[in-house]
Amino acid sequence: MAKNFDVLVIGGGPGGYVGAIRAAQLGFSVACCESNPYADPKGEPRLGGTCLNVGCIPSKALLHTSHLFAEAAHGFAAQGILVDTPKIDVPTMVKRKNTIVGQLTTGIKGLFKKNKVTLLNGHGAFVGQTENGWQVKVGEEVVEAKQVLVATGSRARHLPGVPVDNVRVCDNVGALDIDAVPKKLAIIGAGVIGLEMGSVWSRLGAEVAILEALPDFLGAADTDVAKEAAKVFAKQGLAIELGVSIGEVKTTKKGVSVAYTAKDGAAKQLEADRLIVSIGRVPNTEGLNAETVGLQIDERGRIAVDDHCRTNLPGVWAVGDVVRGPMLAHKAMEEAVMVAELMAGQAGHCNFDTIPWVLYTSPEIAWVGKTEQQLKEEGVAYKVGKIPFAANGRALGVGETTGFVKMLADAATDRILGVHIIGANASELISEGVVAMEFGAASEDLARICHAHPTLSEVVHEAALACDKRPLHF
Ligand code: FAD
Ligand code: NAI
Repeated sequence: MAKNFDVLVIGGGPGGYVGAIRAAQLGFSVACCESNPYADPKGEPRLGGTCLNVGCIPSKALLHTSHLFAEAAHGFAAQGILVDTPKIDVPTMVKRKNTIVGQLTTGIKGLFKKNKVTLLNGHGAFVGQTENGWQVKVGEEVVEAKQVLVATGSRARHLPGVPVDNVRVCDNVGALDIDAVPKKLAIIGAGVIGLEMGSVWSRLGAEVAILEALPDFLGAADTDVAKEAAKVFAKQGLAIELGVSIGEVKTTKKGVSVAYTAKDGAAKQLEADRLIVSIGRVPNTEGLNAETVGLQIDERGRIAVDDHCRTNLPGVWAVGDVVRGPMLAHKAMEEAVMVAELMAGQAGHCNFDTIPWVLYTSPEIAWVGKTEQQLKEEGVAYKVGKIPFAANGRALGVGETTGFVKMLADAATDRILGVHIIGANASELISEGVVAMEFGAASEDLARICHAHPTLSEVVHEAALACDKRPLHF
């Protein structure tokens, strides 16, 4: 007889494992199947998806190590700390990263045990509908469930005709396992991965050249932030060329050769030891048997869902990278919790207007809500409070004076519409903006809240005061 569950989750990434845990907490019998493309020393399914195995966590581990290296090489002397020229031991850096990944992926197995979620090893594919649910083939067995949550995530988009071997030509998987600092690193795509991985290897001494198709840099960010970021990254040695059109990519004995047309029409060639292709991601819907059961896929290959992550099939939900919206781990988790609560008849909710974005470059970049250019396009009257970190005592003390906090508030109601930060700890500071916006706060509300002194959070406070043209320290 087929195994039977209240809920079957397909995919064990942030969307899937969080959905499984929340559904189990709400009293459902839950199984989660994972098809495990990541190398596990014991050959067991590895939970955590892209995020834990080949995404958020390993990239941040490498960013941290390379940041410390760059500080030791270029930052310490200014504070009177004299060290010999530091050397990087790349294998140890990568081993540390792998240990962190191992700890976290194993930790999720522990969480599954604690919450009584059954882990099934295998690829999930719909078989058909039953009287009160769905049949899904997992590996060789058929499982039945009243409700199914699809959280199959995404994989790297590759350039047509350019095979990725993850040695010379890498996507995000190989980019996190480069075993020595390349002399010259080429990157195609100046998006989030391109900038984060470019930062890692440039800090460690690689000459990094990034080729970007779009004419504008960081188009999704507020223009002021994008301008400041372009300036800082150029100073750091990231050579970013915009508006290019990529031609033939060849692997050579020495490395990789990329032919491209520059913005001005000139034919150019970029030679490098390694190439990272980071041009976005593709949702994983193949092999789900979506067409057999009539699961609707949208024009961009994603599972079509409504605001509550309901698909067109009764009792089938989908969350995370495989559906519309930003491909971010916290967005996947938020949707998954909402779905589990809706399955249980509760009022699950996900506020898509307050999902923060963070780039873990140096300085970090983070934002929530609308950009100034969006407000202009929408014809919304707004006011701006913008304060540089250079005006903050703590920023001076820790030597992190680059960047600013920019707050946008509605001119009529004073409600905060967007917060944009480029500066140290932006990833943590943005939470104040998220909380404020989630509660519908006005800039005046933040201006009246006591912020600890001396902290970088005072820059957020001052930006709120500046919305009313009354900053105290600038
Ligand atoms: P995934 O994490 O992709 O998980 C899907 C899982 O489903 C996978 O384990 C896959 O093996 C499994 N699967 C697929 N099909 C099947 C099937 N048919 N049957 C069984 N299992 C299946 N986001 C952030 O918010 N912050 C960051 O700092 C960040 N950094 C990133 C850095 C990099 C280099 C990359 C590549 C991504 C990063 N992301 C980051 C994005 C983040 O990793 C994704 O948004 C997140 O992992 C999406 O979660 P998910 O559960 O939807 O999908
Ligand atoms: P991306 O969408 O961030 O950037 C891709 C870039 O490649 C874009 O600027 C695009 O214009 C460019 N591009 C596309 N095709 C091209 C071509 N043929 N030639 C040259 N340039 C081209 O995608 P990326 O960096 O691959 O990351 C994928 C996703 O992973 C991100 O969108 C994000 O959702 C997630 N991510 C999140 C992180 C975070 O939250 N800190 C870190 C890394 C990834």
